[in-house]
Amino acid sequence: MRKRAIITSALPYANGEIHLGHVASTYLPADVTTRFLKMNDVEAYYICASDDFGTPIMIQSEKEKKTPQEYVAHWNKRDYDDFTAFDIAFDFFYRTSSQENIEFVRYVFNKLVKNGHIYKSEIIQFYCKNDNKFLPDRYVTGTCPYCKADDQYSDLCEKCGRVPEEIENPKCAICGALPVKEKTTHYFFKLKTFGDALYKWLDENQNLQKDVKKYVQNWITSGLVDWDITRDISWGVPVPGDESKVFYGWFDNHLAYISTAVKFLNDKGINGKEFWNSADIYHFIGKDIVYHHYLFLPAMRLGIDQEYKLPDFIPTRGHLTLQSKKISKSRNWYIGLKEFLEFYPADYLRFYLVSINPYSQDDLNFDWDDFAVRINSELIGNLGNLVNRALGFTKKTFDGEIPSPDDYDDKDKDAEAKIMGLASELSVLMNQNHLDRALKKIMEFSTYFNQYFQHKEPWKKGPGTNTCVFLSVNAVRSIAIALYPFLPKSSEKIWQQIGLSGTVSEKQWNEISKIAVNPSHKLGDITPVFAKIEEEDIKKRKEKFETK
Ligand code: 2FM
Ligand code: ZN
Repeated sequence: MRKRAIITSALPYANGEIHLGHVASTYLPADVTTRFLKMNDVEAYYICASDDFGTPIMIQSEKEKKTPQEYVAHWNKRDYDDFTAFDIAFDFFYRTSSQENIEFVRYVFNKLVKNGHIYKSEIIQFYCKNDNKFLPDRYVTGTCPYCKADDQYSDLCEKCGRVPEEIENPKCAICGALPVKEKTTHYFFKLKTFGDALYKWLDENQNLQKDVKKYVQNWITSGLVDWDITRDISWGVPVPGDESKVFYGWFDNHLAYISTAVKFLNDKGINGKEFWNSADIYHFIGKDIVYHHYLFLPAMRLGIDQEYKLPDFIPTRGHLTLQSKKISKSRNWYIGLKEFLEFYPADYLRFYLVSINPYSQDDLNFDWDDFAVRINSELIGNLGNLVNRALGFTKKTFDGEIPSPDDYDDKDKDAEAKIMGLASELSVLMNQNHLDRALKKIMEFSTYFNQYFQHKEPWKKGPGTNTCVFLSVNAVRSIAIALYPFLPKSSEKIWQQIGLSGTVSEKQWNEISKIAVNPSHKLGDITPVFAKIEEEDIKKRKEKFETK
């Protein structure tokens, strides 16, 4: 049987536009990985959905005088369009407010009740007398009880990553007033009882990042708290048997990973549940939602008897800063994906964001000047140069027809060995999630062939010229394939210019290491694949950004 995989990325809130911070840590690494898996004959599907429920969305839709349904439909479409423009190729993009998800969430809740993992409890909740509202989650800010950081939301401390049991020095986030406490009844998920099982699962899963595992295990050791999973608002999945309440968004959103995948697969005539349970499951996330993905999500799957298996990989990456400052939508310090793509090709941004993004929790920084330097000197100066040089020279000197190689000298043998070894060298890094290192390897391969070409001086037309051209064009072919998961458009362009049939997307990964451009093959039309970023241009972008 072919290997199977389901890949998801943290679901974007249907509450504003996608920006560079979102794509850097979550969507781009997942897209690159999915493309790589597909080229390795894995039956892989990349599944996503808009995250539609929750208090912030309800309040914002009210402000805009839209129904929540209209409001989220707008953002669902806009997000999907922006992702598509960036060549994020979901196999299916759905929504957490789908009928399928609503039914699945209610099913999971009932099963958790049946298994004894839910209880009802009267709690005291913050209530704002100005706004006449219970104030869940984002609607109360204050001091984190654990790390004492100020100005944190009551549902998540952005400093230490924990979910506070009760925030200190509370304030209503809408009007700033001191909220009062009122009684209400909520449902709780017994997270505490899953401590040991979660600890063991973390120990046993060798695919999870060691450092993340370690701090999650520390959270478990220092004691988990049961989880309030309901809210007194009208926008959400109604609680079975108590329909005036809805589930907290974090109870239902990750269940859409499953319900969306299953719907997609069932619609294709594949048994979704069976597929899920025989696939490798990947959830790509940013480090701010570790708590939810390493504790809530697996505990809920354990609580329904692992009817749907737990994740195998939770690739977790750091946050993007802009010009070394934290992204903030409210302070307008962010770059919208749509706007960025009006100025530069998707592949430039893909190249830059993968290059600066290690497989770790470290933050990464977008810098306009660094972006221009890396595109001009690395992508264009190195890779674009090799493509242009090898293909351009063949066109000019051999009328675009690949010559038969002569006998190989040591340099040629070494060059040939480089081509033959590239696929497996890259595979090792890709399989370990080191996408940045794999991309760097491709660039090193390109540097090597630039030097090889330079050393061979084919323009002097001495002995060995034919071999140099033959191997260099084959190296460009290898690059075209290896580049596909990272820069799909450029990869296809290079493929066309070599004059090869079909598309790279249909190629298998091990094709990278074949010498498959044969003598007498005719190249296609050649034009530069990339255009340089002018200094003036980047200056303009930077100025506009800094004054916005
Ligand atoms: O933090 C966020 O942006 C959430 N919308 C992510 C949800 S991921 C989930 F569904 F697990
Ligand atoms: Zn208030």
